[in-house]
Amino acid sequence: MSCASVWYTNVTPNLLFCFENGICLHLTRLTKQLPRLMATATSKKAAQNGADQPSIAQIPINRIVTLDEFILRSEKDFSYATGELTGLLRDIGVAAKIINREVNKAGLVNIIGEANGAENQSGDTQQKLDVYANERLIECLQNSGECCAIASEENDDIIHVPPVNSKQSHYVVMFDPLDGSSNIDVNMSVGTIFAIYRRKSDPSGPASLTDFLQSGMKQVAAGYVLYGTSTMLVYTTGRGVNGFTLDPSIGEFCLSHRNMVIPEDSQTYSVNQGYYSKFDLEMRRYIDNCSDQNFGLRYIGSMVSDVHRILIQGGIFLYPSTRKYPKGKLRLLYECNPLAMLIEQAGGKAMNTQLKRILDVTPTELHQRCTIAIGSPKMVDDLKAFIERYSALPL
Ligand code: AHG
Ligand code: MN
Ligand code: MN
Repeated sequence: MSCASVWYTNVTPNLLFCFENGICLHLTRLTKQLPRLMATATSKKAAQNGADQPSIAQIPINRIVTLDEFILRSEKDFSYATGELTGLLRDIGVAAKIINREVNKAGLVNIIGEANGAENQSGDTQQKLDVYANERLIECLQNSGECCAIASEENDDIIHVPPVNSKQSHYVVMFDPLDGSSNIDVNMSVGTIFAIYRRKSDPSGPASLTDFLQSGMKQVAAGYVLYGTSTMLVYTTGRGVNGFTLDPSIGEFCLSHRNMVIPEDSQTYSVNQGYYSKFDLEMRRYIDNCSDQNFGLRYIGSMVSDVHRILIQGGIFLYPSTRKYPKGKLRLLYECNPLAMLIEQAGGKAMNTQLKRILDVTPTELHQRCTIAIGSPKMVDDLKAFIERYSALPL
């Protein structure tokens, strides 16, 4: 906090006053909004002071930069910055730390396994940690009121967020709270995927489904959290990709991967090859070719983990249509779009098996599924050539 800011909590019980340079800025009930108010004041101060501060690129590589500092310094890059997007990213960072804490002790407490036999709207079995992660994310976003509505893999319909302090929010958030959750019982890595959009509807009224059914190109921020051997948060706001590793000793995400760039080409592919006989001819030919060339096969079964490896080491991740999932299994809005934006920002490509760029697909349903091929640009282009060559042939 700026040294010119003074916060009083002892003037009247349960009331909070904030004085900045002798001016009273806030008068509010002392609730769980306290950290948010303090953060907002700090954020506004930082934005005002932005011109005097070095950009991230000027900060020496060996100096620790926390996620919060990075977000605040980056805020001035947005002409329409109001602090809402900054607040949203911070909310997601907080939720990620809480989820991480629970994921990390999953074997010790009664939190692994299925959630009372529950199923989500897609008919997938819900794990207890799916439910836990979903609740924490919704809670963090609702408490701050920085977004006006939420959509999650685990909820049939959109969730409206009541305004906090009468503030109108311009953003909606979508997420897959826990990706690869079937891995949790066997101590494998899982993740959270999120996408943030500016709402299309009038901010004075409630959000609507059309705010969510926007093409991936309209995302203003997207990213994921990977709960792996270490926990990482990787995100983009359309100006490159940066990765932050959680330092458990200080409880902060610290910048560890600046300006991530995906390798142009690779010799590794990632697909559930158990479904080989259920794939279309062109996909089988592409996989045969990978095998003929002695490419390595790596498949974790958690898209976040597979895509994270590909972002760092290169490769291609495939989830094509199968007989069980003729339109693909993965969800467009909160799995494919955010990862497509992120991979494109890192120099990669993402398309569906009809060769359409993922980010250009117009969604029609909240929980829409799609096929996907995502990763190193050269490998996606090679797959495209295979599909063009073989899809015209009879089976
Ligand atoms: P979720 O746990 O959110 O339902 O997602 C699981 C997804 C994805 O993460 C992964 O790549 C894929 O399902 C694995 O599917 P298969 O088991 O069919 O390969
Ligand atoms: Mn998922
Ligand atoms: Mn999930």
